[in-house]
Amino acid sequence: AKRAAIFSVGAFGDKWYKIATGNGVPSDIFKSELGQPTTPEMVDAALSTGKYDAICITHNETSTGIQNPVEEIAEVLKKYPDVVWCMDAVSSAAGSRIETDKLGVDVLVTSTQKALALPPGMAVCTLSQKAYERTAFVPNRGCYFDLRSIYDTIQKKDYQYTNTPCISIMYAMDLQLQRIMQEGVENRFARHEAMAEFVRSWADEYFSVFANRDHLSRTLTVISNTRDIDIAALNNSLIERGMQLGNGYGDLKNKTFRIAHMGELTMDDMRSITSSIVDILKLK
Ligand SMILES: Cc1ncc(COP(=O)(O)O)c(C=O)c1O
Repeated sequence: AKRAAIFSVGAFGDKWYKIATGNGVPSDIFKSELGQPTTPEMVDAALSTGKYDAICITHNETSTGIQNPVEEIAEVLKKYPDVVWCMDAVSSAAGSRIETDKLGVDVLVTSTQKALALPPGMAVCTLSQKAYERTAFVPNRGCYFDLRSIYDTIQKKDYQYTNTPCISIMYAMDLQLQRIMQEGVENRFARHEAMAEFVRSWADEYFSVFANRDHLSRTLTVISNTRDIDIAALNNSLIERGMQLGNGYGDLKNKTFRIAHMGELTMDDMRSITSSIVDILKLK
């Protein structure tokens, strides 16, 4: 293995770099300005150096509300067939379409507690043949998260794991996947899109949408605190009404706030949180 090029558009991309260096993976970080995406040009420029054999892309950056242009990035990747593409889809998988195989994503990671709307406790990961083969060249793969040994064990032992998995979440996931199929995947994506559009236009009316318009997340909207409101106080009032928003994440705390529109949430929930904000703050 050579080096990983990590593209960061916010707190979770930065975290990925921390994970890589913490695991002794040689890597470089390529940051975009907060609210801006990773561009296909940035990926091309990095890969054209020939220094990298892996890239890490955040599909949906939960701290800034960016969804990266992965279709365009996939086009660039066609020029670099030996590069393993890892994607963080923690806050978008099951709420936003990601055609993993068509895009050529080799490792896609998500979690149960975001758009799958389950409790936290399990990571879900896809692994391409190319990525599997590459794992053989990675020294110090650790123990609990050694994907190669997890994959081999699953193959050999009739879906047994290397370590004790979170069985309760697996049962919950089984049920939730059935519910998702009942809703219909297309309907599910359309519901997320409709909520996103509603929240964005509400945000434009009373505040402003933080991130680049052309690359907005389908699963949450990050809103600039243009009125300098007390976000913690607003949240306390919302909690009394049985709802909650997210304060800005990390450096964006109090400068932005976040409305989630993912998982089990509905248009009624969006109407209810936005009208409550208007009511509590007496916005005009
Ligand atoms: C995009 C993204 N990546 C990764 C994570 C994982 O974060 P944690 O360290 O809380 O498990 C999150 C959680 O919010 C996320 O939104």
